[in-house]
Amino acid sequence: MKTGQGWRGGTGDMQILPGPRHRPPMKRPTWIIILVSLVTVFLICAYMYPPQSSAACYVFSSRGCEAISNWLPPAPARELTDQELASRAVIRDILNTPPTKSEKSKVAFMFLTPGSLPFEKLWEKFFHGHEGKFSVYVHASKEKPVHLSRYFVNQDIHSDQVIWGKISMVDAERRLLAHALKDPANQHFVLLSDSCVPLHNFDYIYNYLMHTNLSFVDCFKDPGPHGNGRYSEHMLPEIEKKDFRKGAQWFSMKRQHAVIVMADNLYYSKFRDYCKPGLEGRNCIADEHYLPTFFHIVDPGGIANWSVTHVDWSERKWHPKSYKARDITKQLVKNITSIDVSVHVTSDEKKEVQKWPCLWNGEQRPCYLFARKFYPEAQDNLLLLFSNYTTI
Ligand SMILES: *[C@@H]1O[C@H](CO)[C@@H](O)[C@H](O)[C@H]1NC(C)=O
Ligand SMILES: *[C@@H]1O[C@H](CO)[C@@H](O)[C@H](O)[C@H]1NC(C)=O
Ligand SMILES: *[C@@H]1O[C@H](CO)[C@@H](O)[C@H](O)[C@H]1NC(C)=O
Ligand SMILES: *[C@@H]1O[C@H](CO)[C@@H](O)[C@H](O)[C@H]1NC(C)=O
Repeated sequence: MKTGQGWRGGTGDMQILPGPRHRPPMKRPTWIIILVSLVTVFLICAYMYPPQSSAACYVFSSRGCEAISNWLPPAPARELTDQELASRAVIRDILNTPPTKSEKSKVAFMFLTPGSLPFEKLWEKFFHGHEGKFSVYVHASKEKPVHLSRYFVNQDIHSDQVIWGKISMVDAERRLLAHALKDPANQHFVLLSDSCVPLHNFDYIYNYLMHTNLSFVDCFKDPGPHGNGRYSEHMLPEIEKKDFRKGAQWFSMKRQHAVIVMADNLYYSKFRDYCKPGLEGRNCIADEHYLPTFFHIVDPGGIANWSVTHVDWSERKWHPKSYKARDITKQLVKNITSIDVSVHVTSDEKKEVQKWPCLWNGEQRPCYLFARKFYPEAQDNLLLLFSNYTTI
């Protein structure tokens, strides 16, 4: 009131702030110090013991709780386990090793197949004239393949049975990587199936893979039953539900990433033990979750989040669309090679469509280099078409 009077009077500076002069000195600063200390102690407590239960929230309304947790800096990350610390140290070091790319760098084409490869003639045409820039590895899980192309003869690696959905699929991928890593010239590693075909000529694919620092590992968050619904809490503490990811298995990866996959035992063993069909009522498919989740945890910025292998799930059936001889047209190839946005759909009721532009070194480019699935009968038509589109 006094201050107000002083203002109204407007007779001079002395009258504007008369209050403090009449109060006992120190009283107000002491109050401020006590108040600030109390608030500080309270905030420190709230920070160290974030109000998670409703009991801890009784001081606030639930909205108050939310406001406090939004306003505070993020809670400190949980303490890493010994194994995690060791694993992170090794992975960090490998990722920091600069790539040793040179004129002699090769792309490793790794084929995962039950037996003979139906498109060897097509691949031969694709590889022809590019000797020294690629290597081929074949993992045949059921029967010994008969090879028709010289590029495939003697390229079979030791193999083992592969059971759909089980860790044996991931084991076969790791076996291929291990063999391909033996050649130090291999700088990029592509996993392909027997039903895959190339969509561009060799140079286009080689440059696309070699002149970027990304690995093309498909990865997205699916809160639905075919995504996070397959997560098991046995994977804790290293793999939290919020980090669980999904993606198609057909990857292509740079050498450092292939090495960290070889080095990983920690995350791998969690998927081996707790991600399999029919475990505790969940149908977890190891090859759809292990690599996406692993890379999301250890190097999220190092993967593109889409696969360079196209597959058409738009019919929403149990199997993707498979192309027969009569489906092979210029228009089909044009359609697939012009897609430059990657699309993922969640498996919950919302069926949320996640779309991202395919960014290659920051520039939007077509996403796909390979496509599946093609019936063997499609080969002759593909060969005809290939004589045209390989020169584009
Ligand atoms: C890839 O990384 C290397 C080393 O970190 C860097 O020199 C190079 O410019 C990067 N290449 C691209 C295409 O980003
Ligand atoms: C891939 O997604 C992760 C988030 O899950 C993001 O951090 C990363 O930047 C994405 N990669 C690229 C190349 O955009
Ligand atoms: C190509 O795409 C167009 C437009 O989406 C579609 O109408 C057409 O049927 C497609 N053609 C082939 C052969 O897939
Ligand atoms: C390939 O190109 C030739 C000449 O440009 C053309 O006559 C032929 O129809 C093309 N073949 C196919 C399958 O498109």
